[in-house]
Amino acid sequence: MVLNEVRRIAAQPPGRADALPFDAYRDPDYFEVEQREVFGRDWVFVCMDADLPQPGDYHALKIADEHVVVLRGADGELRALSNVCRHRGAVLLEHSGNIKNNVVCPYHAWTYTDTGLLRGVPFSGDVDVDKREHCLPEFRLGTWCGLVFVSLNDEAPPLEERFRGLERYFSRYQVESYEYTTPIGIEHWQANWKLAMENFVEGYHFFAVHQKTVETAASTRDCFYVEGRADWSVTGGIQLDYTNTLIGWVKPKPRRIRYLSICLPPNLVVNLYEGYMGWVRVLPTGPTTCETATGFCAVQGGIPLAYKLYQWFSDFDKRTFAEDRAICESVQRGATSRRSKGGRLLELERAVVDFHQYLGKQLFDEDHSTHYRTHQAERFDGTRRAS
Ligand code: FES
Ligand SMILES: [Fe+2]
Repeated sequence: MVLNEVRRIAAQPPGRADALPFDAYRDPDYFEVEQREVFGRDWVFVCMDADLPQPGDYHALKIADEHVVVLRGADGELRALSNVCRHRGAVLLEHSGNIKNNVVCPYHAWTYTDTGLLRGVPFSGDVDVDKREHCLPEFRLGTWCGLVFVSLNDEAPPLEERFRGLERYFSRYQVESYEYTTPIGIEHWQANWKLAMENFVEGYHFFAVHQKTVETAASTRDCFYVEGRADWSVTGGIQLDYTNTLIGWVKPKPRRIRYLSICLPPNLVVNLYEGYMGWVRVLPTGPTTCETATGFCAVQGGIPLAYKLYQWFSDFDKRTFAEDRAICESVQRGATSRRSKGGRLLELERAVVDFHQYLGKQLFDEDHSTHYRTHQAERFDGTRRAS
């Protein structure tokens, strides 16, 4: 029932596309299908390469039903290993950190190397534990434009193919050279993961939800669509930069800076500015709950400015994020209604339509999207910096 409705909506073209049925945000059976067909099959964003600079640095997360840890080995390579002990199944590592030398299980202290080989079994006595038989399974990991992804699916198409056409946006903003990062912030929302994703890809709600925050610097009226299809979408907007108005007697007008917001489904939205970026990662934790993670990175030379920006943004972002969370949790509460249902999506929500078409592609192997490109995309055709 829910599946049929999602399939019908994913086939609707922009302009005649509706919001998803409310049950898609709460039905446990539908949730299981998504876990399997979306998060179990596609490339899932983890963090930035620059978030794990040192050997032993790791970040743990749960994708579909798998506990995964992305760990940088002493050889400098990033690997995605199963984060579940091969003895009796304890979860090995939590959140982010550095393993020092080995991965040590918190239960009976079996130890593994940074490549997942079993190294030590305390008090094993005469029992022979075959070390080769007890390695941590490895998953596919790909790094693309400085972003790290993992796929549980050995058959998933290569990562570069998955996001083909987007490289120029990332290279234009020099994302690969970003070396400065701030700690990843994690929150647990009482909202289905799709509500968070849909919210982060559209600027239609700025003027209403973020009246005193985002809207004051980046207005809904300045939001535009750049290009996209089911696989990804690029939107953008104009942001007023007040930094040149802070000093001096003569107060110039704030600079108008173009920013981009890129959705890489299923779980990443990246906001690109000049010399820095912010990202939001969304992971489902249940039919009506999700985990959001946020990160910020910047070019190395821009550390002091980046830090100031971070300080400013962290408070600004904190308030903005709280507003997003409140509205998504409100929509989740509304999703229990039997008499009401979702309505038409507007032009400012075209990226939401792309996202629904992505769901259709993953769930039913049907791609109803056509690549759509506006004149805004032409700015990125040449080698000019975005301005
Ligand atoms: S469960 Fe890990 S050592 Fe026993
Ligand atoms: Fe928002």
